[in-house]
Amino acid sequence: MAFLTNEEINNIRSSVSIVDVISDYIPLTKKGKNYFGVCPFHDDHAPSMSVSETKQIYKCFSCGATGNVFNFIMDYEHVSFMEAVKMVASKAGIDVVFDNYKEQPKKNNDIYEIYELSNKLYQNNINTSSGTKALEYLKNRSIDEDVIKEFGIGLSLKKHDVLTNLLTKKGYTKEQQLKSGLVIENDYGFQDIYYDRIMFPLWDMFGKVVGFSGRRYDDVKEYKYINTKETDIFKKGEILYNYHRAKDEARRKNQVIIMEGFMDVIRAYTIGVKNVVATMGTAVTKENASNIKRMAKEVILCFDGDSAGSKATFACINELSKIGVIPKIVRLPNDLDPDDYIKKYGKEAFISMLDNPINVMDFKLRYLKEGKDLTSSIDMASYVNQIISELNNLDDDVLREITIKKISEEASLDEDFIRSHLEKKEVKEIVTKKVETKKYNKYEKAEQNLLYYMLRDPEVIKLYNKKITYMPTMKYRFLAREISYFYKQFDYINIADLLSFLKDDPDMIKTIGEIDFLDLKEEHSKEEINDYINVIYEYNVNREIEKLKEQMKKETNPLVKAELGSKIMNLRIRREEYD
Ligand code: UTP
Ligand code: MN
Repeated sequence: MAFLTNEEINNIRSSVSIVDVISDYIPLTKKGKNYFGVCPFHDDHAPSMSVSETKQIYKCFSCGATGNVFNFIMDYEHVSFMEAVKMVASKAGIDVVFDNYKEQPKKNNDIYEIYELSNKLYQNNINTSSGTKALEYLKNRSIDEDVIKEFGIGLSLKKHDVLTNLLTKKGYTKEQQLKSGLVIENDYGFQDIYYDRIMFPLWDMFGKVVGFSGRRYDDVKEYKYINTKETDIFKKGEILYNYHRAKDEARRKNQVIIMEGFMDVIRAYTIGVKNVVATMGTAVTKENASNIKRMAKEVILCFDGDSAGSKATFACINELSKIGVIPKIVRLPNDLDPDDYIKKYGKEAFISMLDNPINVMDFKLRYLKEGKDLTSSIDMASYVNQIISELNNLDDDVLREITIKKISEEASLDEDFIRSHLEKKEVKEIVTKKVETKKYNKYEKAEQNLLYYMLRDPEVIKLYNKKITYMPTMKYRFLAREISYFYKQFDYINIADLLSFLKDDPDMIKTIGEIDFLDLKEEHSKEEINDYINVIYEYNVNREIEKLKEQMKKETNPLVKAELGSKIMNLRIRREEYD
C-alpha cells in the first residue's frame, strides 16, 4: 500500500481525541464545552487556544491558528502531513504500512535536490586522497569516522568548479545554481562558493539539507566559517542546528540544551548528550525561541564561557522569557566553550555541570554586577534598578520572592521597599473572542455565513450548488468549491476530515479557521440560508449584467445589441423576483 485512502486517514484521525493529543504537548484546562491552553504558535502567555472535543479541531483566538490533530502535530513537530498521520497512528496503536512513501516538498524542489547532491559530493570528497589533511584535522579534534558520518561532514576541493560542473552535467541551469547560493558568477565565470573547506551540512526543521558551514582547516584562510547565504530555503534566523536529530531525545528527557556553536553540539553528541541544538553563533531569534519552547519544558543554556557567551546568554534569556520560557544556565569556567570543556575535563565533569545549572535570576545578578563597583552608591542604585526591571519581566513568583530576599540583603534595602517598586502583575484571562476590526460588506457576510453552515450541513451544500455559480470573494469561492467537492466524493461533511483532505494548504486552512471563528448559532432555518444565497445570487446576476453591458458597448450589429439588451432586461426581472 503506497498511499493511505482518505477513509484510512479519517479512521486514524478519529481513533484519538484531539484533546488527549494536544494535552501531551501543552496543558489544557476545561472551561464550558471546550478546553483552553496557551497557544504554542505565537508569542503568548494567555490561554487563547481553544480545543473542541466535539469538532475535533483547535483554534487560537489570538493568532488564528486552526486545524485538526494532524495540523497541530505538523506545526508543532515540524513534520509533513504523512509523518503526522504516522505519529497519530502509532499513538492510537494502529499498524499502518507506509510503503517507502516519500513526500517531496513541492516548492523549490530543485534547490533541495542541489543540496542533496552537493552534500553527497562533499562527503565523497573527504574520503578521497584529497581528503587526507581534512581527516587529519578532524582526527586531531577527536572527531572520528562515526561522527563524520552521522553529521554528514564533507570537504570542498581545492578547485573552483567541481560543484558547478557536476550540477551542469546533471542538467541544472545556471539560474538554478545561482539560486541555490552554492555557485556565484564573477569575472572568471561560474564558480563554486566553497573552496577547500571542511563542509558541515545544515538542516532545516524537517532534516533536509538547506545550507552549509564551511570551516577552514589549514589556518591560513581569512574566515573561520563561511555559511551559505540566505536562499528561498535557508533562513539563518530559523535554523537551530541539530533540531531534527535532537527533538525526540529532548522530548523524552523533557529537557533541551542550547549551545552557540555547532562544533559544541557535535562534541556533546559524542559523549552521549543528544538533546542539544545550536544557534549558529547568532542572536536567538523569535522563531528560534518558539521552536525551543516546543522541544521541552526544561531549557538549559550552555553558551561559551567567555564574556561574549555571557552577553549572548543574557540576550537569549530575554528572548525566551518573552514567550514564558524561563531557562536554566550553565556557565563554563575559564572562557571555555562546551567543546573545549569536554575535551579538557571529560564527560563526567560536563554532565555534572549540566546537572547543576543556576537559575536565571542568579545569572542576572551576576551578569549585571559585571563592570560595576557596588561599594559606590551610584553603581548600586543602577544595579538595583536593573534587577527591579528584570523582576518585572519575570514570570515565576517563587523565583521573584527568592530574588527580592537576595537583593534586599545585598543592597541593605527593605524587602517591602523593593516590592513597592514592582509592577502589579495582571491576571491572565481566557481569551474567547477574536478581536475583530475588519468590516465586511453584505456579500462577504453572506458568503461567510453560508460557508459556516456548509461546513456543518449537507442540505446547505446542496442548496448552494443548486443556485450559486460563483462566490464573489476568491478565498471563499475556493473553500466553497472544496466543500462541495468533498461532499460529492464522500457524501458527508465534517471540518476535521475536510482539514485532512486539504492536507497542508495553509491558505485554505486559514480560511476555514476564519469561518469557524464566526461562532454562529448551530440551528439555522431554511429561510435564513435562502437569504444568504439570494444575496450572493444577486451578486452573480449583477456580475452577469455588467458583463453583458460591456459586450453591448463593443457590439456594432444592432440586432445582436438588441438581443443583449433583452437578456439584461430578463436578468433584471429575475433579480427583482428574488428581492
Ligand atoms: P565559535 O567561534 O564559538 O565556533 O562560533 P566554535 O564552535 O568554537 O568552532 P571551532 O571550535 O572554532 O571550530 C560559534 C558559531 O558561530 C558561527 C558558527 O556557526 C559557529 O558554530 N561562526 C563562527 C560563523 O558563522 N563564522 C565564523 O567565522 C565563526
Ligand atoms: Mn570551539
